Amino acid sequence: MPHPRTPEADVDPEFLARWSPRAFRPDPLTPAQLASLFEAMRWAPSCFNEQPWRLVYGLAGEPEHARITGLLVEANQLWASKAPLLLVLFNRRNFSHNDRPNRTAAFDLGAAWMSLALAAHKLGLYSHAMAGFDTTRAYTELGADPAIYEVQAAVAVGAIADPDTLPEKLRAREAPSGRNPQASFVFHGQLPPA
Ligand SMILES: Cc1cc2nc3c(=O)[nH]c(=O)nc-3n(C[C@H](O)[C@H](O)[C@H](O)COP(=O)(O)O)c2cc1C
Repeated sequence: MPHPRTPEADVDPEFLARWSPRAFRPDPLTPAQLASLFEAMRWAPSCFNEQPWRLVYGLAGEPEHARITGLLVEANQLWASKAPLLLVLFNRRNFSHNDRPNRTAAFDLGAAWMSLALAAHKLGLYSHAMAGFDTTRAYTELGADPAIYEVQAAVAVGAIADPDTLPEKLRAREAPSGRNPQASFVFHGQLPPA
């Protein structure tokens, strides 16, 4: 069996080396690492350069970290509670220059999240996004007016730990995953009939 992370074409190894582990070491991030991760997000491209991404973070040991942990579904709490940095990502719904809906705000936030994920890996850290959390409570508990902001995902960041540190049921899943072939999503000129 080929390794699940085998590329079909030449690609920078960083794209394959980033993956989403669940075993995190509790070692705190330095302020410089934190600033570097956020700086990578800052330079993401966005429609009208609106930069609609917003994030709320908490560091292990702080009530802010416990608050984000409390929003996660139990299956995510099991492992993400150990990560030294937890984030919740929002996009601003409307453009600031005309208050009209920003159709690509989530797309732009996605670009910023991937910047963070790749920057984390360059720093020797790992990130793991999560949709499994209570979005209703995320608005109220993190001070986000749902008329203005849309919550998208939570993210755990930290150094990777030995899989043995995970609860047994998560250990077997602790491996980089594969991908569908390019031919499943790349089409020349037109999409095929659905
Ligand atoms: C928006 C988003 C939501 C996700 N939600 C969860 C989640 O709630 N729990 C979880 O364990 N993994 C979650 N994941 C991780 C994905 O399962 C993982 O990224 C995917 O399987 C690809 O694996 P890789 O990131 O290791 O390449 C999420 C990823 C993304 C991008």
